[in-house]
Amino acid sequence: MRLLTYAKKNKKIAKFFLGSEHREPLGIFTWIVANYRLECLGRGHVKNRSIEENVVDLSQFRRDYLKGGLSRSDLEKDPVVQFSQWFEQAQKTDIPDSTAMTLATVSAKGWPSQRTVLLKYYDGDGFVFFTNYSSRKAIEMKENQHVSLIFVWLDLERQVIVNGLVEKVSAAESAKYFMSRPKESQMAAWVSSQSHPVSSRQMLMQKFQEMKTKIGEGKVPIPSFWGGYRVQPVEIEFWQGRKNRLHDRFLYTKNASSGIWSSERLAP
Ligand SMILES: Cc1cc2nc3c(=O)[nH]c(=O)nc-3n(C[C@H](O)[C@H](O)[C@H](O)COP(=O)(O)O)c2cc1C
Repeated sequence: MRLLTYAKKNKKIAKFFLGSEHREPLGIFTWIVANYRLECLGRGHVKNRSIEENVVDLSQFRRDYLKGGLSRSDLEKDPVVQFSQWFEQAQKTDIPDSTAMTLATVSAKGWPSQRTVLLKYYDGDGFVFFTNYSSRKAIEMKENQHVSLIFVWLDLERQVIVNGLVEKVSAAESAKYFMSRPKESQMAAWVSSQSHPVSSRQMLMQKFQEMKTKIGEGKVPIPSFWGGYRVQPVEIEFWQGRKNRLHDRFLYTKNASSGIWSSERLAP
């Protein structure tokens, strides 16, 4: 694109160019190239990178991670104890939704998918969340038990990745948690055919109102299509951001026969 044509199209800067000779001072040319994110193709020729290549260039967004470090002497033998320490720090730091984790599943055809769920409790046996047993994730977990969780606590410049095998919790365990939920959340579980198309929000709200009327002051029973899953970890990785991208990473791996955890440092 000729620079002059570009200037004419952009009225704000056109006034610099509409003199009799159309000769642009070099300073203005440089300013336009810098401010309008143009690529200089030679004398007087420019190309608008973001328009022509449709690129949203974020390459200059960066920061150094300086908040802490993780060394072997800091590490607990048991990664779940290590997780507890980091999780408590995340809570003390007031990280919003520190219990939020991304759950990745893989379909029978090998397509991965992911979504956020909330961690409800954990111990040495695993990490538990609750959801709809007819949802996309539930179908995929039935087809493939291998899942991955990731917690990202950016205020602490940390992430924790849990890879493991998933299984449904018992009906009694699901019922216990269901009863602890607010009544509205219990009813919402009934009216949402999670992951399936719904004709409108109005339709969803209508179903919710009907449910409220039907239940009245009574108790909400647990839906048969709703409950918990436990992710039993086989690998847990702790990542702490460091200066100059030389981050700290420690991967714990569980020995399948002995159940004993070992850990090793990974290159960032
Ligand atoms: C902060 C946050 C927390 C969420 N917590 C849950 C949860 O605990 N359980 C759940 O089923 N969906 C939760 N969701 C919604 C899921 O991300 C997702 O939309 C839903 O489970 C359907 O996923 P699927 O279609 O892949 O099965 C949460 C979403 C966000 C953003």
